[in-house]
This record gives sequence, structure tokens and C-alpha cells, in this order.
Amino acid sequence: VMVEKQGFKHFMLKEIYEQPGVVRACLEAYLDTSWSPESATSPIKLNLAPELYSDLKQVQIVACGTSWHASLVGKYLIEQLAGIPTMVQYASEFRYAPSPLTPNTLTIGVTQSGETADTLAALEMEKQRRAGQSPRFEARLLGITNRPESSLGHMVPQVIDTHAGIEIGVAATKTFVAQLMAFYALALDLAYHQQTLSATRLEQILLGLRQLPAQIELILESQERYIEELAHDFAETQDFIFLGRGINFPIALEGALKLKEISYIHAEGYPAGEMKHGPIALLDAKVPVVAIATPGLVYEKVLSNAQEAKARDARLIGVTPLEASESAEIFDDLLPVPVVEELLSPILAVIPLQLLAYHIAARRGLDVDQPRNLAKSVTVE
Ligand code: G6P
Repeated sequence: VMVEKQGFKHFMLKEIYEQPGVVRACLEAYLDTSWSPESATSPIKLNLAPELYSDLKQVQIVACGTSWHASLVGKYLIEQLAGIPTMVQYASEFRYAPSPLTPNTLTIGVTQSGETADTLAALEMEKQRRAGQSPRFEARLLGITNRPESSLGHMVPQVIDTHAGIEIGVAATKTFVAQLMAFYALALDLAYHQQTLSATRLEQILLGLRQLPAQIELILESQERYIEELAHDFAETQDFIFLGRGINFPIALEGALKLKEISYIHAEGYPAGEMKHGPIALLDAKVPVVAIATPGLVYEKVLSNAQEAKARDARLIGVTPLEASESAEIFDDLLPVPVVEELLSPILAVIPLQLLAYHIAARRGLDVDQPRNLAKSVTVE
């Protein structure tokens, strides 16, 4: 397939702009449009074999890089919506130190390319060690991938296709957002089967999901120019800290990873509440702090953590809704996102962080689509 930049300066920017469409494609693929709260079926259509779900006690997820970050959001969703204990492991670690075998366990490999050697090896190891065990311990393998035809697709009996289309930029953007969508679908489907959510709550979340494409569009339209300008201030910056909590802690990790990958600026993502146990020692006027402060359970907590950073002279950038006046006073720069329920906020919060990383790297004149030392898929150990 011939993929072109269509007027965008880099594939990465084009792919960032494709995200509303990707989310729409995922909604179309995963949501049953004929569903209503009165229906006696799941609102989600993933066509997974019922054996994957039966008497499910645990979920374990293996992944690398950006897919590992999506998996952390997935863990939050599966635990909070479906009430199933979920572990997320780096595939490169799990393959040499697997957790003890647990019964009735769903193992999910998340890899956009379907070719990452460590992820494939971790799944193969899981398959081997569970072969010949009693039925409760048999492997239940599921893949989440953008390439169902990949090696992963051949290795596992079931996949959730992430419908992002081919991604060229080495730094993953649209495939990450699509993986998040796959996890919303999976967590809601599990919640339906576990009967942990009321039909009205399910409907509420589905309504929220349907609004995401237009909300992502709004962020792209209203912020790109501003972020491009803002990026000028950071062309010489050497370190960045990204803070988030709860469901947005993985987004802080992802924001930091995007920046590292393409701008070569040192960046750390941290759970905001942990800052006092180390990273706060790094802070001064030369280290900008990006805080994800979206309304919800940990909103006030993140704001007070951000204030602690401000007291150390850090320049504070807030990914936060404009409507939240208290946060407008705390932050030096705002990257506004629409107000949504906390559960859905990661998919919006990541967009300005992708743009920020992109524009800083572009400003530094770097090869955004092909960063040094990195490969799109790492097919060797
Ligand atoms: C490489 C890429 C990353 C990606 C990671 C995992 O390091 O540069 O962007 O997140 O591999 O890739 P996967 O295809 O398994 O999701």
C-alpha cells in the first residue's frame, strides 16, 4: 500500500490528524448500534469465543513501549469497570520472570505491529507453560493488534483489530488511541458479562465514547497553532517532567515517551503523588512540568501536586479544561481539553501531548518520522 503525507510535513502529524477518524472506525467496529439499555445482549461486538470469559478470575497483559502504556489504561478500565484483577507486564521482563500460574486467566498481548519479538516470546512462553495443564490453567490468549495478519495474529486464536490503518511514524500515535478504544470495548464487554455495571451506566459511557471523535477534532483545530508557538520556548530545554494520576498516569508516561523518542529531550512521566519521593529534587526554573489535571477523583490532588512544582519555580503546563478556573490560575500555559468523565479523559489528554512532542521535535529540526536509534517494530530481542 502506498501511503502519502497528503500535504502534512511529516507522517506523524498526518497520523495525529487521522485520530478522529480512527476513533470513529473503532466505534463502528466495536459498538452494536442496535443496542439499548433494554437489550438482553452486550452493547459491544468483539466476537470473542465465550471460553475466554467464562469464570474469569484474572487478566494479565504483556506489551512493550507505547502498547505497554495503553495496557496500563486497559488495566484501570478492566479493574474499575469489570472488577477483574489485572496485571500489566513488560513483555521483556515477563518472558524471563513470569508470574506464578493462576487459574482462569486471560492473557492479552498488545502490539500494534504484531511483530515485537519480546511480546511474541512472552505469549509463546505462556502457551508452552500452560500446555497440558488442567483445564482451569489452560492458556486463554487474546491479541490486540493493528495487524491481524501479523505473526501475533497467527500465534493467538483471537484478536481485537484496532482499525488504525498503517502507521508510518516510528512514534506511535493513532495506533495508541486505537488500542485505548479496544480496551474500552473489552472492559465494557467484560463488565457486561460480569454484570458489574447497570444498563444506564453502560449507556452513559457509550454516549461519552461517541462524542470523542468530535472532541479530538476540537482539540486539533483549536490548539495546533498555539502548541506550535509554545514549542519555540522549549527548543533548548533539557528536561521535562510529566505528571498524572489514576487513569492519566499512563498518559503522563506516554507524553514523556513521545518527547524522548522524537525530540531527544530527557523526560520523565511520574504519578503526581510520587513526585515528593524523588523527582521534586530535579525541579527548578529550567525544568518545565506538564500536569494532566482533568476533573474527577484525583483532580484536586493533581492540582496540589502541580502547586508544589510551581513553588520550586518550575514552568507549569496544564492539560486541563478551560472551564476549570482554579487550574487556569495555577498554570503558566494551558493545553485545554473538553470536560468529559474521568474514565474517558486519557484519549483526549494524550492529543495535546502528541502535538507538543511533535512541534518541539520539528522546531529542533529533527527527523520526526525516523528518530535516531529507534525502529518501528523491534523484531529482535
Ligand atoms: C518500538 C516502537 C514503539 C512501539 C514499540 C512496541 O519501540 O518504536 O513506537 O511502541 O516498539 O511496538 P508494538 O508494535 O509491539 O506495539
